[in-house]
Amino acid sequence: MNISKTKDILDRTYDRENPEAKDLVYLISLENKDDLTYLFSLADKVRQEYMGQGILLRGIVEFSNYCRNSCYYCGLNKNNARLARYKLTIQEIIESVDHIIKRNIKTVVLQSGECGELDYLWLAEVIKEIRLKFDIAITLSVGEWKEKEYKSWRDAGADRYLLKIETTDKKLYQSLHPQMNFDNRMRCLEILRNLSYQVGTGNIIGLKNQTLEQIVGDILFFKSGNFDMVGIGPFIPHPETKLNFEPKGNVSLTLKTVALARIVTKNAHIPATTALGSVGEEDYRINALKAGANVLMPNFTPLKYKKLYEIYPNKRCVDEAVGACSFCAETIASSINRFIDYSKGNSLKGAM
Ligand code: 5AD
Repeated sequence: MNISKTKDILDRTYDRENPEAKDLVYLISLENKDDLTYLFSLADKVRQEYMGQGILLRGIVEFSNYCRNSCYYCGLNKNNARLARYKLTIQEIIESVDHIIKRNIKTVVLQSGECGELDYLWLAEVIKEIRLKFDIAITLSVGEWKEKEYKSWRDAGADRYLLKIETTDKKLYQSLHPQMNFDNRMRCLEILRNLSYQVGTGNIIGLKNQTLEQIVGDILFFKSGNFDMVGIGPFIPHPETKLNFEPKGNVSLTLKTVALARIVTKNAHIPATTALGSVGEEDYRINALKAGANVLMPNFTPLKYKKLYEIYPNKRCVDEAVGACSFCAETIASSINRFIDYSKGNSLKGAM
């Protein structure tokens, strides 16, 4: 590898409004240590320039693990009969949000499986109740619904929505999501945007048969869709899924994707995902924070349910007391000379 070639390509990828796919394929293929150091340090510089030194926190409450889907990678798939299913009461959700507020965190992410039984009016009530009681930004991550439901939640006071596209390659998407429809997922993202949610998407790295070109397509989509947030995590095989025997996603490839997403999107909020913290012995979220990421998502699901939200196995910190992750975030931040930013951390896209 030739470091000056890498620098040239990186610099023009940073400069261009529409980066070239072939340049990104070159960059995502880098393996040489010096090249990678340069890539990660440029991503870190861009993060510093656009997002500053603060690490934002999003307290996540996984309020239900019921799911109507059977995604081939996900432990919550409806065919996993071994998994005990749960759903928090409004009271339990409010208590969880109270924990988040007590830790001075000002975003709650309400996440669940895509639960066919989910009563959208119930969720609207939950949102209203949180709005009434707390000054906190509300992010939803509950999958594909119709405009009517998305609108009722927005009207109730939800601010943001996370819906990962998982992969932008339609064929690959269809091969992993039986009974689901790629075009519908895209449509959902559009509806959410039109309802003026701050919208997050993202992908999984290391899906079966996924190519580097497809990952580059994902990165270009994060840019062209002007997404407010982009979550990128490695695939982790789950024993109760079809992909149990597939290898896990490569950490270095995941970090390269984070770095390129930062360089290309400039000011999207990019979390150091829990999957990156769970995929190996080390906590690779720290590497992600040094390669473009600016967000951590401490878990506030009540302890007795945490283990049951098993999207993938060996999820980080499932045995920790509720909220312990937010202390851990402080330790992480100071270990890399950053600080925790306790603001709401709204999208910076409007300010572009
Ligand atoms: N490995 C990694 N990420 C996964 N997700 C679901 N299952 C897995 C897995 N086995 C991710 C998906 C989903 C998010 C909540 O978790 O990207 O959008």
